[in-house]
Amino acid sequence: MKRLLTLMALMLPVLAGAQSLTVTHLSETHTMIQVSGKDRYVMLPVQETAQEATVKVLSNGQAVLKANVSLAIDKTDYLVPLDLGKWAGSSILLDIKMTQGRGVRRDPSDDVCWSEMVTLPAIDSANKEKLYRPTYHFSPQWGWMNDPNGMVYKDGEWHLFYQYNPYGSFWGNMHWGHAVSKDLVNWEHLDVALAPDDLGAIFSGSAVVDENNTAGFGRGAIIAMYTSDGDNQTQSIAYSLDNGRTFTKYAGNPVIMAEDTPDFRDPKLFWDDQTRQWKVVLAAGQEVQFYSSDNLRDWTYDSSFGLSYGNHNGVWECPDLIRLPFEGKDKWVLLLNINPGGPFGGSATQYFVGSYDGKTFKCDDLPTVTRWMDYGKDHYAAVTWSNAPEGRTVAIAWMSNWQYANSVPTTQFRSSNSVPRDLSLIRKGKEVILRSTPSREVEALRGNPVQYTLSTAPVELFEAPAKAYELVLRFTLQKKEGATFVLSNESGEQVVFSYEPESQTFSMDRRGSGMVKFSKKFAAVTTAPTRVGGRMELRLLVDSASIEAFGEDFAMTNLVFPSAPYNTLRLYGNAKADVTLYPIAK
Ligand code: FRU
Repeated sequence: MKRLLTLMALMLPVLAGAQSLTVTHLSETHTMIQVSGKDRYVMLPVQETAQEATVKVLSNGQAVLKANVSLAIDKTDYLVPLDLGKWAGSSILLDIKMTQGRGVRRDPSDDVCWSEMVTLPAIDSANKEKLYRPTYHFSPQWGWMNDPNGMVYKDGEWHLFYQYNPYGSFWGNMHWGHAVSKDLVNWEHLDVALAPDDLGAIFSGSAVVDENNTAGFGRGAIIAMYTSDGDNQTQSIAYSLDNGRTFTKYAGNPVIMAEDTPDFRDPKLFWDDQTRQWKVVLAAGQEVQFYSSDNLRDWTYDSSFGLSYGNHNGVWECPDLIRLPFEGKDKWVLLLNINPGGPFGGSATQYFVGSYDGKTFKCDDLPTVTRWMDYGKDHYAAVTWSNAPEGRTVAIAWMSNWQYANSVPTTQFRSSNSVPRDLSLIRKGKEVILRSTPSREVEALRGNPVQYTLSTAPVELFEAPAKAYELVLRFTLQKKEGATFVLSNESGEQVVFSYEPESQTFSMDRRGSGMVKFSKKFAAVTTAPTRVGGRMELRLLVDSASIEAFGEDFAMTNLVFPSAPYNTLRLYGNAKADVTLYPIAK
C-alpha cells in the first residue's frame, strides 16, 4: 500500500525551478520533463561524481538528441546548457533514465537536479574559473576538451576543431567543438560542428580543403574525416560548404571499415603530390595504416607501418604524416601519439623520420629507436594543420595527460591546448631530430620587455603577480657547469629547471609547484636530453596553469596549478643569466 501511494505521488507533475519545466517521475529511475516556453536552453545540473543518466530529447515525439549527463543527486557542481534552439516551436520532452543505483530506496524527487534545473534564453559563458583559465592558450568556454581535430587553414582562417563534451567537464559524449582564428592565438568560439549519430560518437580526425571538387560535394568544400565510435570504430566523412560553419554528414558513411580491429581510429587526411591522390593515415592497433583515394569517399588500403618500431607500451593513436625540408631534400615525419607508454608515464607523442613514396612509409632509424617530440607530461594528440600558408607546418597539442586529465582542478572547463608550434628538422650530431618552436604569432603577444641580470640573488619579476608571461633566459656555461633556475610564488610553491652537464639533460621539477595531490601521477620531474655547455637560450612560456620550455633541441610541456602566480626567479650556480621578461596580456 505504501509503495502504491509513493508511486502515485511520483506521477504527479512537479513544478521545477522555472515555470517552463514540468517534471514527472514515472518510476524510480525514469523521469519525463515537459519543456515549454520560449527559452532556448535547459540548464542541466551536474554532479561530477554522480553516475551518468541518459537524457533523450524528443521533439514532436521524435528522438533528436541523446546525451549522457551526470545529473546532480546531492549537490550541483555546475550547470551545463542543453541547446534546444534547433527544435524551437516544437513540443519538447526530455526522457531521462537515471542509472544511479539506490542502495537505500529513496524518492527520486529528492535528487537535487529536478529542482535546480532551469531554462534560460541565453547562456552566460563568462569566465568563472578564477585561477586556471589560460590567458593565451586555447580552452573551451565550458565543458571538456581533449584532442585537437580537423585543423585546416582556409580563406585566412585557422580552424580548430576538438574532441568536446558539452555536457560535463569530463570525457564523454564526443562531439567536435569548433573555433576559428585569424592569428593562431585569438580564438572565436563557434557552434559545435559535429554531434554523435547512429554510427556512434565523433572521435578524432582531420579535415582538408577540396579545392578541385574531387569528392563532388562542391569546389572548396572543407571535408572532414573522423572516427565513428559505435559498436566498432569506422571512419566517416562530412563536408562543409560555408567555411566550416555547418557540416553535412555523407549519406554513404562509413567510408573505411576494418574487420577485427578494435582500436581503429583518428584518420589524418593529406594530399600526396607524388601520386596526385588523397591519402589517409590512421591508427590500427599497434601500427598505422595508409589508404589512398581519388575522391575522398572510396578508399584503398596501401600499407602498414610500425609493428616493431618505437614504443609500444600503450595504444597507438592520432597519427600524422608530414613532409619537411632537410638539407636541400624532403623527409617525411610520422607523428604518433601513444597512451600510456610516455617517457614520464601516461600520454606522449613519439615520431619517426623517414621516407614515403605515396604508398609506404620507411623509417630511417632502427626499429629499437624511440624519439619523443616533447619531453613533458602534458603534450598529447599533437597533429598539424592542413593547407597552412607559406609552406608552414604548424602543430598543436592537447595540454594534458590521460593519467589525470579528468581530475585537474578546474570545473567550468577542463583542458587547454599547447601554443601552436612550427615544426622543422634539425641536425643534432649524427641524428636528425624534430624541432618544435612556438609559432611566430605567439611572439606577437609579447608586451614591453623588461631586462634583468640574474645572479644568485632572487629577482622579483612582478610587483603584482601576473599570470601570463614569457621569459627568455640567455647564459653561458663553462665546461662541466650546470645551472638551476627556480620560479616561485609567495607561498613557496616552485618549479625548478635544471641543466645538468654530466647527463647533458634539462629537467623541470613540478613536485612543489602548487596543487599536485589531485592525482598520484601528477607530481613529477621531467627530463629532456640536450646539449649543455657554452651559450644557451631557454624560453619559458608561462600561463595560469602551464609552463612550456623550449631549448635549442627540445620542447617540454607541463601543467602546474599554483595557488598564486609565480613571480620570483632565482638562479643557483655560478653562471649569470640575462633574462628578458615579456608580459602577455590579451
Ligand atoms: C586520444 C583519443 C583518440 C580518440 C579520442 C576520443 O586522446 O583516445 O584516439 O579518437 O581520444 O576522445
